[in-house]
Amino acid sequence: MVLNNNPQPNPLPSKGEGVWFDEFERETLYRVIHARRDMRHFSGGEVSSEALSRILDAAHAAPSVGYMQPWRFVRIVKADLRESLIALVEEEKDKTADHMDERKAEFMRLKIEGIRDCAELIAVILAPDDGTVFGRRTMPEEMALCSVSCAIENMWLAARSENLGMGWVSFFEPSDVATLLKCPDGAKPIALLCLGPVKEFYDKPMLETEGWRKREAMSVVLGEDQYPLATDNTPGHPILRKRNSP
Ligand SMILES: Cc1cc2nc3c(=O)[nH]c(=O)nc-3n(C[C@H](O)[C@H](O)[C@H](O)COP(=O)(O)O)c2cc1C
Repeated sequence: MVLNNNPQPNPLPSKGEGVWFDEFERETLYRVIHARRDMRHFSGGEVSSEALSRILDAAHAAPSVGYMQPWRFVRIVKADLRESLIALVEEEKDKTADHMDERKAEFMRLKIEGIRDCAELIAVILAPDDGTVFGRRTMPEEMALCSVSCAIENMWLAARSENLGMGWVSFFEPSDVATLLKCPDGAKPIALLCLGPVKEFYDKPMLETEGWRKREAMSVVLGEDQYPLATDNTPGHPILRKRNSP
């Protein structure tokens, strides 16, 4: 770990209105990215209102197609509302299991949420389509959803930097959650986010530790000039050639 021994804040050479980051800050960002985990075990305790505000501000700073900002957040405060959401998630877990083949028993043993134990529960909702065409003529719903996902990833990283765990729960029937949360027509809940203090962070994705699935090799996900050819999970990084080199 590289420590910043400089007691003074690093001078940030500015370029235009923006900010250049130094090596320490860059390294910190990558550390946060790689240390982020989907968390399902929470230790109780609270999220301070300051931290929660920063996390929500991070969400609202996300990029969005045509700048449409199609995210809406609902903080679940009432205990009975949380219970109703838990019931929906449990119901969906059972239905999901019924669609599994030989891995059904293994799936049922997995912990897929920490809704009951997390300090804060936040529903994220795709707002009703406002008709934005900019950037989404061909893929309107996908681009709006991608924008909401960007907001959620910002929250995930912000939470991790606050040493708070966050878990994305998608096991629910969106129309049922929409009814519970009094969403307008056309709004679609896409995430229940469990947020809160944790005892420790998993060092690997829990689904990897549990033997459910492994991270794909970079060669499987990265192609050059065409869709990646590799399909196996052979470790190794494809050689990144300079652009336009023969
Ligand atoms: C769109 C989306 C939906 C997800 N839904 C769930 C869920 O319902 N329950 C769960 O346990 N994890 C859920 N996850 C978390 C993934 O299982 C997790 O990101 C993946 O296993 C990799 O682990 P990591 O996030 O710790 O790197 C979801 C993640 C995404 C991006």
